[in-house]
Amino acid sequence: MSTDEKMAALLTEGRVFPPPDSFVENANARDKTLYENAEKDYEGFWADQAKELHWFRPWDKVLEWEVPFSKWFVGGKTNICYNCVDRHIKGALRNKAAIIWEGEAPEQQRVLTYWDLYREVNKFADVLKNQFKIDKGDRVTIYMPMIPELVIAMLAVVRIGAAHSIIFGGFSPESIKDRILDSQSKVVITADGGYRNGQVLQLKRNVDEALAGNDTPVTDVIVVRNMQYHMDIEINEDRDSWYHRVMRKANHFVPAAELDSEDLAFLLYTSGTTGKPKGIMHTTGGYLTGVHYSTKYVFDLKPEDVFWCTADIGWITGHSYITYGPLSNGATVVMYEGAPSYPDKDRFWHIIEKYGVTVFYTAPTAIRTFMRWGEKFPQRRNLSTLRLLGTVGEPINPEAWMWYYKNIGHERCPVVDTWWQTETGAIMVAPLPGVIPTKPGSATLPLPGYDVAVVDKDGHPVKRGEGGLLVVRKPWPSMLRGIYGDPDRYYETYWKKFGNLYFTGDGAKIDRDGYLWLLGRVDDVINVSGHRIGTMEVESACVDFPSVSEAAVIGIPHEIKGQAIVAFVTIKDGVAHTLDLIEEIESHVVEKIGAIARPEKIFITAELPKTRSGKIMRRLLRDIANGKVLGDTTTLADPKVVEELKQKYESEESS
Ligand code: WTA
Repeated sequence: MSTDEKMAALLTEGRVFPPPDSFVENANARDKTLYENAEKDYEGFWADQAKELHWFRPWDKVLEWEVPFSKWFVGGKTNICYNCVDRHIKGALRNKAAIIWEGEAPEQQRVLTYWDLYREVNKFADVLKNQFKIDKGDRVTIYMPMIPELVIAMLAVVRIGAAHSIIFGGFSPESIKDRILDSQSKVVITADGGYRNGQVLQLKRNVDEALAGNDTPVTDVIVVRNMQYHMDIEINEDRDSWYHRVMRKANHFVPAAELDSEDLAFLLYTSGTTGKPKGIMHTTGGYLTGVHYSTKYVFDLKPEDVFWCTADIGWITGHSYITYGPLSNGATVVMYEGAPSYPDKDRFWHIIEKYGVTVFYTAPTAIRTFMRWGEKFPQRRNLSTLRLLGTVGEPINPEAWMWYYKNIGHERCPVVDTWWQTETGAIMVAPLPGVIPTKPGSATLPLPGYDVAVVDKDGHPVKRGEGGLLVVRKPWPSMLRGIYGDPDRYYETYWKKFGNLYFTGDGAKIDRDGYLWLLGRVDDVINVSGHRIGTMEVESACVDFPSVSEAAVIGIPHEIKGQAIVAFVTIKDGVAHTLDLIEEIESHVVEKIGAIARPEKIFITAELPKTRSGKIMRRLLRDIANGKVLGDTTTLADPKVVEELKQKYESEESS
């Protein structure tokens, strides 16, 4: 569907769901006070939120702002790990479950109390600091499966004032290598392998490949033994150490470093419209304030809640809503290692039943998959402990929203559609579930403390009922502080378009009640199953294949994934156009980037439509792949190219 068609479809969505009375009664936010406070005194409001955290030293100034660089809680000293762990062991939370871990093999389960987490994190912080000489400011790369040691590792890194760079376990050796080089990490923490959908992920082997060659800054690799049976991995004695061995020699206490509010906490690489993925920088005090606040109010967390966010910690959603937000609130989180269909398609519902999950947060692509599998799977399990549902990662279509509301929430649980980005660090647009009536398909309103708007191409707010570009007009505590090593690219990507507004890259519509309806990316980023992939990255992976000469990559709508990747490629003279070739190009893309970038379709063509100045017209390729009438072709060097391409594409589709 085009943006216009999507807007028209959404306009007809008229259902409204006010918060149920029983929910409002106990909600952390029950009225508009937070909105009013934020409106009255923006900095004062954020200072109040930051005061919920432990500070070793109070800040002198709430905000220093000079476009595009912000500093929050300037002069304040704090520590993310201290806030997530240490402060809870001094009181009643000491023996509470912090992490309930469920392995993919159904009988596997581990529970870590806050005290357990405190002990393990201290020991590993000592290992990093004293055995591996990690100092404040150093970067540490983490490439791990979804196991408790991943949370322990990230907390230990920030405890000593180093910064982590976590790489999703599905990325290829080459992607790992790029990120390690860019971040100049000295140490990599990984595991021998991981389980996913009954398969074994070769994590250590991927790291070995990424570190091959002599340009690596990495001196040490710490390996968690995760596979129950012996897994054949190579151990390089000069470089590799087993986690369980180094932990045996660790001291039991390492004080949390008193860090500056603006000290780097982590880098997280995300795809952009140009070049290689960029290292989004998040700092300490502001980031934690943003995630602490949103977890408390959007997920309405209470001491007795069991919170389950199904994301992988390799993405920002896992960073913010498995580890930092819930733990700083002293919550119990469920962490699941594996796939939703293993061993059967009711696995998620089984986990909810098993642990009495109360608040559940997942992605629209997962919901659409569950819809396709059918109601019978959730019906097998008791979901009555649930009281609140959330979604994130991509626009949710009203149909999927309603399915989730009915079949998982049994029309009892509010659904919070949460819009945010790696760059925003924390949720920015979402309903406060005890205050804001929801509409299926809308992320509703900006949370208190965020000045989010929809503007036209000149930066003027659009009228209600119209669509435009989503921007943020005021700095916020958990905003990215830049792109690692590239301040110019930071300005170019997010600020250049409007000068004083942060541009999100998303399109949105604002309805007559001021509700926001997200319409997806308006730049060259494709959102496949909630994961961002730059068209440029896929294009360069395609042309890296020896017989490919040019490539143009676009996103097309996909029923389950939201969007899927289509690559149009031209091949060098004399190369035979065979099915094998298509498969080889596909595998090459997977090898270069990872399985998430696998094209849905590769279409080989003799020529790509270009303007007279040689620019590929991706807009026309989108028209072709979407089966639409071709848009304006007058600027093309040779309009015949695109006509022929359209005919061939359509005949291939129908054959
Ligand atoms: C999209 C994930 C519509 C959006 C937290 C954004 C959404 C990108 C929503 C960020 C939502 C995320 N409704 N679209 N509720 N949540 N997006 O950095 O296009 O992986 O720009 O962060 O996902 O993806 P990222």
